Amino acid sequence: MKIRKAILTGGGRATRLHPITTTINKHLLPLANKPMIFHAIDKAVEAGIKEIYINTNPGETELQKYIGDGGHWGISIKFFEQTGGPQGIAHVVNEARQFIGDEPFMFYLSDNILLGSLKEMVDEFSRGKNDCMLTLSEVPDPERFGVPVFDSAGNLVDVLEKPTAPPNNFAVTGIYLYGPRIFFDTYKKINPSPRGEYEISDIHSVLLKEGKTVGYKEVTGWWKDTGKPDDLLLANQLLLDQLHEGNFPNHGMVEDDVVIEGKVQIGIGTKIHSGVTLIGPVIIGENCVLSNCTIGPHVTIGPGTTIVNATIKNSMILDGAEVSTRATVANSMIGKKAIIREKTEQPHHYYIVGDKTVVEF
Ligand code: G1P
Repeated sequence: MKIRKAILTGGGRATRLHPITTTINKHLLPLANKPMIFHAIDKAVEAGIKEIYINTNPGETELQKYIGDGGHWGISIKFFEQTGGPQGIAHVVNEARQFIGDEPFMFYLSDNILLGSLKEMVDEFSRGKNDCMLTLSEVPDPERFGVPVFDSAGNLVDVLEKPTAPPNNFAVTGIYLYGPRIFFDTYKKINPSPRGEYEISDIHSVLLKEGKTVGYKEVTGWWKDTGKPDDLLLANQLLLDQLHEGNFPNHGMVEDDVVIEGKVQIGIGTKIHSGVTLIGPVIIGENCVLSNCTIGPHVTIGPGTTIVNATIKNSMILDGAEVSTRATVANSMIGKKAIIREKTEQPHHYYIVGDKTVVEF
């Protein structure tokens, strides 16, 4: 039976990305200047998905505004509120049961970014007899993830959530396929974990213990869970590297004596003044102004941003920020409308530091 439906995550607390995620939904953070969740939707659509259901925290309005009804992708996208807010990702899936009915489906954690396509796996699942299919990726830190357990014959026998002593170096990634009804029948048998969440790994553990057929496939190419700032920057870097020349048009106004090396995208209405050096891959959004600065490699700059005098490497600068300082900004995330500038004649240092901000000297 062909998989036509997918559930994608759009809620959660994203505390590890504070303070940026106190004002913006994590799933809308730009990666290669495209909202994170758009990358997940692209992968699902490429794999043949026609209907997507996205969970939201109560009161969410931004996601709906950005994503719309799916027309952009030629599919249908609908949103549903997770009653009671975040309670674990298995709970998210269970909340979508009325949309899924008796069909097989894909569940996709939208903060998972991967290089390869899911089409082959979805096609194989549609033809085969598996009740569930997991995707694995080799990682240096499996203790941060769900980890598969294999017996001596190499059969998958269990899945452990964030084990302190992982039995191998595989992570179960956040992309899962389920046959008709199997998930919802199993959900009734699990309880919240010590961290108070309905864990997806408990679903897989129960399926395996009941002798259901749980297949697995290793993802092709890199995979990143973008839960932490470092991972987000790395995903941004990998996505920029992977984009081909054709994704880097120059629609801006570039003065003489600007040095451009490698892949550089410049948005409409953006002005690049003489003396600027751009080292790709770099994406600069619309209506930005850049003067006397060196940008790149691996930098994305949101629309409406001003950069003066700075050297910026491997960083994400969000919409409307102003960076006017002779400092080097590296491996950093600068939030929307944030201002980083040199002090003028004030006798003391002057800061407005938002809630939960980290400032290191
Ligand atoms: C969740 C799952 C975990 C999985 C990971 C993949 O973890 O619980 O099993 O390996 O996603 O991204 P979380 O990101 O909620 O800590």
